[in-house]
Amino acid sequence: PPLDEILNLHDFEAVAKAVLPAKAWAYYSSASDDEITIRENRAAFQRIWFRPRVLRDVSSVDWSTTILGCKSSLPVYISATALGKLGHPDGEINLTRAAAKHGVIQMIPTLASCSFDEIADAAQPGQPLFLQLYVNRDREITKKYVQHAEKRGVKALFITVDAPQLGRREKDMRMKFVDDGAGAKVQEGQQDVKKDQGVARAISSFIDPSLSWKDIPWFRSITNMHIILKGVATPEDAILAYEAGCQGIVLSNHGGRQLDTSRSGVENLIDIVAALKTKGPWPNPNFSVFVDGGVRRASDVLKAIALGASAVGIGRGFLYAFSSYGQEGVEKAIQILRALKDEFEMNMRLLGARNLSEIVPEMVDASALRAH
Ligand code: FNR
Repeated sequence: PPLDEILNLHDFEAVAKAVLPAKAWAYYSSASDDEITIRENRAAFQRIWFRPRVLRDVSSVDWSTTILGCKSSLPVYISATALGKLGHPDGEINLTRAAAKHGVIQMIPTLASCSFDEIADAAQPGQPLFLQLYVNRDREITKKYVQHAEKRGVKALFITVDAPQLGRREKDMRMKFVDDGAGAKVQEGQQDVKKDQGVARAISSFIDPSLSWKDIPWFRSITNMHIILKGVATPEDAILAYEAGCQGIVLSNHGGRQLDTSRSGVENLIDIVAALKTKGPWPNPNFSVFVDGGVRRASDVLKAIALGASAVGIGRGFLYAFSSYGQEGVEKAIQILRALKDEFEMNMRLLGARNLSEIVPEMVDASALRAH
């Protein structure tokens, strides 16, 4: 369908499913084992109900914010998803260009199809970028990669901690990995590609499963970027991250692609915020809590913000947008969330919040969240 018939982020998913080659669709849409967590990521948002306030003069509302010190036109960033060229010949650069035009921040994946420099070169001067990091067994490779990214202006390092090994994504595993040139241009030293286990496992064999809390000071010693741990699920680990001197965490289950039957990030938010409140000021200017997984509507974003998230990440929503329509699709996805009369403005008015700081826990009823 023409792009102007796309009304929401779900529509992009339907188009992507219809137009993508089977292998790309399997890699993008798959989740681990019985795919229970990926369904729960959506379902959890649907168990949170709004408690809107009325008569608050909402003639003008503003949902812009800063994320880790970088201006963002939305409390949403583009989360890292690997292998963009499976979906579109321009790969991740579709996201970079659309993000520049609309003031949104992109997190570049370690396993991007475009090289890091191709993406950095496509960015506008001063455009804020984040980097998602898979840590190589050979730490010199990781060090070079991180320091190069910092030199090129990346503002924050999101170290993925929920993937010491990639999950079993059976839809993907059924498609044997055939090299069609869309593969990741990843860091050197990552040659032992196993070609019979699906795309995900084939590209990820360099990831170091020995990574531990003891490595955090090493990251601090090699970079001044903000360090965020992506894939935290418990108050225990949130506190460890805080005490290790990280600048934040992403409550994420990797879009349901890692440990199946993990809880959703938004559900974990409640206990994790409560635990962090015992450790310091809240909101804590030095420690941000992000959520991703299943976010497809501005209303989902507002629920996460109400429960204490600084911002949320969206993976598949943007991935499906560029797979279907390239850069224009991503721009449209951002506009759907942001533009006048569309999702953010309408939802904030109906909720009675003129800016993000007016979105408070009392605006949601999460009592049913734990009911299942
Ligand atoms: C991902 N995600 C991911 N995360 C990460 O840290 N490194 C990676 O290389 C990837 N690759 C990746 C590929 C694909 C196809 C998907 C769908 C996801 C996880 C991603 O950053 C994010 O956590 C989830 O996508 C969020 O869930 P939604 O928005 O896709 O529901």
